[in-house]
Amino acid sequence: MAEPRRRVWVSQPLFDDIVGRLAVHFDVAAPARVMEYTPVQIADALRQADGVLATLNERIGVEEIAGAARLRAIANVGVGYNNLDVAALTQAGILATNTPDVLTETTADFGFALLMATARRITESERWLREGRWTQWSFDSMLGADLHGSTLGILGMGRIGQGIARRAVGFDMRVLYHNRSRLPVDTEQACRAEYVDLDRLLAQSDHLLLVLPYSPQSHHIIDAAALAKMKPTATLVNIARGGLIDELALAQALAGGRLAAAGLDVFEGEPAVRPELLALRNVVLTPHIASGSLATRRAMVSLAVDNLIAALGEGPAAGNPPNLINGDALRAAGLTGNTGGGARKTAIKR
Ligand code: DGY
Repeated sequence: MAEPRRRVWVSQPLFDDIVGRLAVHFDVAAPARVMEYTPVQIADALRQADGVLATLNERIGVEEIAGAARLRAIANVGVGYNNLDVAALTQAGILATNTPDVLTETTADFGFALLMATARRITESERWLREGRWTQWSFDSMLGADLHGSTLGILGMGRIGQGIARRAVGFDMRVLYHNRSRLPVDTEQACRAEYVDLDRLLAQSDHLLLVLPYSPQSHHIIDAAALAKMKPTATLVNIARGGLIDELALAQALAGGRLAAAGLDVFEGEPAVRPELLALRNVVLTPHIASGSLATRRAMVSLAVDNLIAALGEGPAAGNPPNLINGDALRAAGLTGNTGGGARKTAIKR
């Protein structure tokens, strides 16, 4: 008798034509509209699934997977995966994947756009104009900070950070960076970027961009003490994760003139944004859209679908999902990886 088809849960409406590729191999359950789930609803959905296509909205940890006996793989649609408890998934032998590379250039473009909007006060002046307050051109109105000739600091020099550094060359900026580990010299040269310690980065940057992964170690890396080390004329831009910044300390620094401006695409409690930030004129706020070009969002979903098909032991990369983030899960699940059919068989039979 034929084995019953396995089930995949797609947590949010994505692109039907791309997600449809899953239906070749699996029974697919997907909502018709954007959903906000409780942990219990997530646990219920996981209990019935062999695989999941998840977004950063779905927090999946020990409690959510407790009853998920058949769950084999979670493909996260995003390069960041702090919504997943990777250690718990690994221990349970559940493969997890993300979507790097395909969003690098789009996200770096956006980092620059948000930096320019913030430093040159673009959204603030547009609001002012729309409110009918522009009665006469004046020489000292809405004066901002230059990008060209200034010092750009990049905290987190992975693929996206390097993309931003490459763009800065065209603006004739001096680029400093800090990262967990220093880049090879040829990469530094290609980005024309100089490695410095965190204190020097904070003290010397005219514009500081955050592009580092969020983790317990990087939680509130920009706190009151870090902000106090920055130039009062500096611009701070965050396109990574909200939890990197102590937002109350940031709001106080912006309100007190201890920092010129901030551009924030991500927030600690998103989609909620602190009222202290909403009240400020010198902060540009966007709703987590750094990777949001149509082409890139489609590419992210497509890569996540490829990852899930492979992680569940189907398709050309069966058993070897291209963007596995927890290789140890293969061992925990009794799989070996890079074994094609062998991994595939075990993956089906778990
Ligand atoms: C990511 O990929 O981590 C973005 O923040 C969401 O698209």
